[in-house]
Amino acid sequence: MTNIGVSITGSGSAIPKVSLDNQQLSQIVDTSDEWIGSRTGIRKRQLANPTESLCSLATQASLAALGQTNITAKDIDLIILATSTPDDLFGTASQIQSELDAKQAVAFDMTAACSGFVFGLVTAAQFIRNGVYQNILLIGADILSRWVDWEDRTTCVLFGDGAGAVILQASGRDRLLGFELRSDGSQNNCLNLSYQPQEKKIIDGVAVSKGTYQPITMNGKEVYRFAVQKVPEVIEKALFRANISVEEIDWLLLHQANQRILDAVASRLNIPSEKVISNLRNYGNTSAASIPLALDEAVRQGQVSSGDIIAASGFGAGLTWGAVIFEWSSI
Ligand code: UT7
Repeated sequence: MTNIGVSITGSGSAIPKVSLDNQQLSQIVDTSDEWIGSRTGIRKRQLANPTESLCSLATQASLAALGQTNITAKDIDLIILATSTPDDLFGTASQIQSELDAKQAVAFDMTAACSGFVFGLVTAAQFIRNGVYQNILLIGADILSRWVDWEDRTTCVLFGDGAGAVILQASGRDRLLGFELRSDGSQNNCLNLSYQPQEKKIIDGVAVSKGTYQPITMNGKEVYRFAVQKVPEVIEKALFRANISVEEIDWLLLHQANQRILDAVASRLNIPSEKVISNLRNYGNTSAASIPLALDEAVRQGQVSSGDIIAASGFGAGLTWGAVIFEWSSI
């Protein structure tokens, strides 16, 4: 009988080499290490230089994830790239497929901003549960520095670049225990990276526009309020579906947006700080990459081990938010 349980068997990550600390940022905009540190917990972030691509970071992370498993790129059936910052708007997943020489794999991008990894994990799991695919590479990667307004101190201090990847494999036991995904487009204007027409042309009586995407805009306070209220709720819902109590969680793995959000969510759920995975101090908010990047560090540092129960939650633009409860299962 076909294995239709989901196991997450490997993780990998990649970050650009160049780092920019708060002190350096304070030379660019009117801010300080004290303000950024106390309001967000971020001390530095890694930034992709113009020669680095999303494809190269994602490929590096993918190879590292494959290295933790018993499969090679040739065994991958599906590649999902969760990103809001593809190298090519037509999609970057196929380029990664080519770089990896994953000939059998079908590859596509998906966008759910900072919830992208959690949405991607749930999407990928469905292909295993219905028996269609056995080995899936899921990548969360973003280069938000391409779209940050470096003159806007309310946003430019928050973001960094990176990539994280996991391998999902079909197994006899289903270790993806429960999930809940949510969207609320009525609050879409809280966080945007929107296309704006700059030129209008009339072609044979038909009006078309040519423009580009505009730098990130955010209503920080609204997004903060939303996250602190909705993330605990969605985690509780996912735990309910998994039939697991909060006490049974070994690790709380949130989108790394702000240490104050991590602390507030943990406190609302009565989860002690020792169980909260946090690495945003070194990377800032890396959007779709933040959860797999933090997971991979925790795995490689020996914090997270086989059998640990992880409650992961992503939240952000859309607005979108979601939680997934899974058991880590390195081979
Ligand atoms: O991945 C998507 C999810 N995004 C998020 O989760 C972001 C959620 N929001 C937040 O994390 C927080 O709202 C921020 C970190 C963005 C801002 O923190 P805050 O405590 O909400 O600050 P604020 O926006 O209320 O600003 C307080 C003050 C303002 O000055 P006034 O009006 O009180 O004089 C800001 O102009 O801090 C000022 N300010 C800054 N000062 C120094 C805003 N940004 C900065 C800055 N440096 N970088």
